[in-house]
Parts: sequence; C-alpha cells; structure tokens
Amino acid sequence: MYGQVLALASLASTSALVNAVAIEPKFYTNDISRVGSQKDIYQFLYGSAPYFSYPFNTSIPVDIPEQCEMVQVHVYARHGERYPTASTAKGIEKVWYKFGNYTEKFSGSLSFLNDEYQFPFANASNWGLLTTPDNVINPYNPLLGSLTGSSHGEEFRERYSKLLDAHPNFTIWTSNSNRVHATSEFFIQGLGDDYHVNLETISENGTMGANSLTPISACVNWDWNTAKDKNISSTFSTQYLTDISERLNTANPGLNITNSETYNLFDWCAFEIDTRGYSDICDIFTEDELINYSYYGDLITYYDEFIGNKLAVAVGSVPTNATLTLLNTPEDELDQTVFVSFTHDTHLLQYMAGVGLFSEGKPLTGKSVDFHNEFKRSFLVQLGARVYTQKFNCKSASNTTESFVRYVVNDVVQPLDDCHNGPGFSCSLPDYNTYLKNRFEGVDFFSQCGVSQVSNTSELTFYWDYKTKNYDAPLII
Ligand SMILES: *[C@@H]1O[C@H](CO)[C@@H](O)[C@H](O)[C@H]1NC(C)=O
Ligand SMILES: *[C@@H]1O[C@H](CO)[C@@H](O)[C@H](O)[C@H]1NC(C)=O
Ligand SMILES: *[C@@H]1O[C@H](CO)[C@@H](O)[C@H](O)[C@H]1NC(C)=O
Ligand SMILES: *[C@@H]1O[C@H](CO)[C@@H](O)[C@H](O)[C@H]1NC(C)=O
Ligand SMILES: *[C@@H]1O[C@H](CO)[C@@H](O)[C@H](O)[C@H]1NC(C)=O
Ligand SMILES: *[C@@H]1O[C@H](CO)[C@@H](O)[C@H](O)[C@H]1NC(C)=O
Ligand SMILES: *[C@@H]1O[C@H](CO)[C@@H](O)[C@H](O)[C@H]1NC(C)=O
Ligand SMILES: *[C@@H]1O[C@H](CO)[C@@H](O)[C@H](O)[C@H]1NC(C)=O
Ligand SMILES: *[C@@H]1O[C@H](CO)[C@@H](O)[C@H](O)[C@H]1NC(C)=O
Ligand SMILES: *[C@@H]1O[C@H](CO)[C@@H](O)[C@H](O)[C@H]1NC(C)=O
Repeated sequence: MYGQVLALASLASTSALVNAVAIEPKFYTNDISRVGSQKDIYQFLYGSAPYFSYPFNTSIPVDIPEQCEMVQVHVYARHGERYPTASTAKGIEKVWYKFGNYTEKFSGSLSFLNDEYQFPFANASNWGLLTTPDNVINPYNPLLGSLTGSSHGEEFRERYSKLLDAHPNFTIWTSNSNRVHATSEFFIQGLGDDYHVNLETISENGTMGANSLTPISACVNWDWNTAKDKNISSTFSTQYLTDISERLNTANPGLNITNSETYNLFDWCAFEIDTRGYSDICDIFTEDELINYSYYGDLITYYDEFIGNKLAVAVGSVPTNATLTLLNTPEDELDQTVFVSFTHDTHLLQYMAGVGLFSEGKPLTGKSVDFHNEFKRSFLVQLGARVYTQKFNCKSASNTTESFVRYVVNDVVQPLDDCHNGPGFSCSLPDYNTYLKNRFEGVDFFSQCGVSQVSNTSELTFYWDYKTKNYDAPLII
C-alpha cells in the first residue's frame, strides 16, 4: 500500500477531503483511503487517539425539555489532537532507532517498515503541539486538533446560539499551554464572525494557587505515584506486553524489543493517528492486548489522577465551587451566561471527581480487567474531551419557575447518581447546593494540598476579575 500514488478520483470519495485540489508529492506515501479506518480502537488508546463521543448513551436528549429555557452553560474542555509530549516522543523515538538499526528485513506485523515509511515524530519542534494542517505529515487528515476545535465551536454555536446572541461580546478562558490555547482559538474560529470573543490566558504555574485552570499545580501534597505507592499498578499482569514482544522478536530475530519499548508502541499508534489519520503500528496488537493495555491505563489514572487519589475531590472542588457560584448568580447580574474554559485531561478528571461524576463505582482492583467498572479514561478525557454544565429554568404545573442543573460529558447527558429527579434527569439548583455541601464537608483545597508553600491565593477569581486583571500569561509547551 505504501508509495502508492493516489488518483484524485479516490480522494473525492472521502467527504472531508472534497475541498482538496491536489495532493502534494511529499504526501504521496499516505494511503488516504485508510484515514479514520481505525475508529474501533480509539477507546483502547488511553485517550490519546482522536476525539469520539462517550460510547454508551444514556439516551437522555441533550436538548432540554420543552417547558424549560436554557439560562447558563459552562464548558470545561481538553485540548484537541496533538503530537506526543517530549517525554512520550523520546520513548517512541527509542523504538524507532531500534528499528532503524535492525539490519534484517522485517517480517510479520512490522513488514510495513520495509516500504517507504515516514516517521511522524521526527521533528522535535512539534512535540506537544496541537496537530494542524501546517505541522502534520498528512494535511489531508481531518482528525486533527485544529478541526476538532473548530467543529466543537460550530456545534456549540448551533446549540447555544440564544445564550451567545444575548451577549455577543464575551470572554473565554484558557490555560497558557500552547496546545490548550491553540484549541481555544480554533473553537473561537468555529463560533464564526457574529461574536467578539476576548480570550484570557491563565498561567499554569502553581504560584496561581486556586486561581487557576490547573489547580493541581499548586497542590504540593499531591502524590502522582499513588497507584505505584499502593502497589496497585504492579498487581496487573504484564503478560500482554510479553506476548507482543515475543511475537515481534520471534518474527524478527535479533530485534530484542523489550516490554517497556513495546509499551511505547501504543503511544506511537495513538499519536500517529493524530497526525497521519491512521497507523500501521496499531495493527501489531490483538484485541485482547488492546483491552489489557487500556485497562492498565484506567488503573493508574484512577489512582494517580482521579478519585482513587485522596486529594482529587479537594483539587476538583476549585472549578466545581467556581461553577457553583456562577450557577447561583441570577442571570441579570452576569455579563455573560456562557463560560467556556480550556485545560488538560488531568484537570478535567479532578473536576469530575469534585462534581462526583463517574466517582461512585467500586475502586479498580488491578487483579484482572474490571469489565463492569464505569471508569474508563478514554471515555472521559480523550483528546478534545468536554464537560458541560447546563442550567435551565422550567415552569412547574403551578406556573412557578425553578432552576435545574445537569452535566453532559462528551455529548451524553450524565445524571448525578444522587440527584436526578428534575426534568431531563437534572438536579434542582437548591438540591445541587445541598449535594455539594455534603460532598465538600471537611474538604479544603488550600490546607489539604499545602498550597501555602507555593501561593497564598485560596480562591478562583478569574471569572469575575478578568476585566481589571487582564490575564495574559506567556505561552509554554
Ligand atoms: C444520546 O442520545 C440523546 C437522545 O437521543 C441525543 O440527544 C444525544 O445527542 C446522543 N448522544 C450521542 C453521543 O449520540
Ligand atoms: C541507531 O540508533 C542510534 C541511537 O541509538 C540513532 O542515533 C540512529 O539514528 C539509529 N540509526 C537509524 C538508522 O535509525
Ligand atoms: C519542524 O516543526 C516546526 C514547528 O511546527 C516547523 O516550524 C519547522 O518548519 C519544522 N521543520 C521541518 C524540517 O519540517
Ligand atoms: C467588548 O467588551 C470589552 C469589555 O469587556 C470592551 O473593551 C470592548 O470594546 C467590547 N468590544 C466590542 C466589539 O463591543
Ligand atoms: C513558576 O513561577 C515561579 C516564580 O515566578 C518560577 O520560579 C518557576 O520556574 C515557575 N514554574 C514553572 C513550572 O514554570
Ligand atoms: C508495597 O510493596 C512493598 C514491597 O513488597 C512493601 O514494602 C510495601 O509495604 C507495600 N506497600 C503497601 C501500601 O502495601
Ligand atoms: C489480559 O488480562 C487478563 C486479566 O484480566 C489475563 O487473564 C489475560 O491473560 C490477559 N490477556 C493478554 C492477551 O495478555
Ligand atoms: C539481541 O540479543 C542477542 C542475544 O543476547 C544478541 O546476540 C544480539 O546482539 C542482540 N541484538 C541487538 C540488535 O542488540
Ligand atoms: C466552596 O465555596 C464555599 C463558598 O465560598 C466555601 O464555603 C467552601 O468552603 C468551598 N468549598 C470548597 C471545598 O472549597
Ligand atoms: C503567604 O503570606 C505569608 C504572610 O503574608 C508570607 O509570609 C508567605 O511568604 C506567603 N507565601 C507565598 C508562597 O507567597
């Protein structure tokens, strides 16, 4: 399949590519017909493959019930498809060099390396950046961070145009990570020309304390190795890695690929899809191996970043509390009713832990794959992930108006386990306040996290003081 020059006729059949006029010769090695053909495995790739909606629908309409009116919406979103970060890219590169130094002809699932193959992560200047048509090896691939960002903006405009039109001059917030910031700009592009959007860029530095889209940076007491420290990550068998390594080494004697190198192949597979649109590396793995790899990722995420970490609720209380304050504010006292913020996966996880989404199931064990546990990293914080909070007012039979709150995670309504008796399985605003009050009893971000060691800022204020403060942190990778 490699080296095949594609006829324009085959291009026209790929809908996202209809605008492409001609393929530049340097991109001929890409088999355009395979772009997007590996959707079935995105959910096993640690959330590093292109965006997909939450795969199990509660079937609750995302549109609110007819007798109700949307009055506020909040969005916390992860950046879109990107290049691997430096540390991940270096791990992948190590394997690439190993392949490069192998002098025999490749056989088995690595045979594709005998043909013309362009390593997608060779340019270190791209590491950690959002994928865009300008920086990828296959600009005809629509599965890029740029398009996920702008499509999200378009979808948002369609569903929430009433709220947008009421305040067409409004503010959006982003952390100062280059890829997060770039995603917010593509989102704004997707909103179109009818709005004037002011972008506030909040530093990710721990010195910001609670006034941050990345409050974990100020959580000095956070243990990033909880799964390891609790001996949980070592519980899960690495047999799936041994199986793959042995298979590759048997087919290619003398290659001597190790299990840790094999582990990096999963990242290679995921991030290559984010640039080329498909990856031959992915074809190395069996379904069972993908499932076990995916579970291992869920396991470490659950303890290192999510509810299995003792400070997850404390860190998550920061965005949850700020959102609550806005939800409790009468709309006529607000300058805008749409609050969109961009950040990273880990912060979304703690936000969901704070709210109590996907937090009520049994802890993951690591003993074997917990097939019936609802916590799946890639369903929640895949590239382009988005957590919406809807606030809507509904008229009751007696004609009184009440406010309700509801969460939509990656395009599917997710009722709170303990509060969903309102219209569309929402939670009434007073009940939501009580629910969070109970949830945050004894929880204190500032003291539990030891924030004072790096900052004295104990509250998130940027949603309110941006007009006088003007947040414009310089971008970082
Ligand atoms: C889930 O189903 C609801 C109700 O039909 C619909 O509004 C929503 O868009 C669906 N979500 C996805 C991801 O298909
Ligand atoms: C062989 O490996 C070294 C580093 O281990 C690397 O610098 C070199 O580029 C590799 N050769 C090829 C052809 O990949
Ligand atoms: C490497 O990537 C950077 C950033 O995208 C780009 O400016 C530069 O032109 C690239 N270099 C090569 C040799 O492609
Ligand atoms: C939008 O609002 C800001 C204040 O938040 C103001 O400085 C700016 O002039 C307004 N822009 C437009 C186009 O109305
Ligand atoms: C955070 O800011 C402090 C003080 O300005 C600085 O010393 C430190 O290097 C910054 N940390 C990061 C990760 O940028
Ligand atoms: C983890 O295992 C080590 C080595 O077996 C042991 O010393 C340690 O106590 C264990 N930790 C926990 C939290 O069980
Ligand atoms: C996957 O994990 C299960 C434990 O849930 C284990 O029994 C099985 O052997 C593993 N499969 C592979 C292919 O490693
Ligand atoms: C792989 O291991 C064998 C046996 O230890 C060794 O002889 C061979 O040199 C190794 N190959 C490479 C490429 O390191
Ligand atoms: C949330 O905000 C309220 C009101 O400011 C405060 O009393 C409470 O301590 C905060 N809770 C957390 C967990 O930060
Ligand atoms: C916090 O405030 C105290 C008292 O003003 C001061 O001593 C301390 O240095 C401050 N801490 C930081 C991290 O700025």
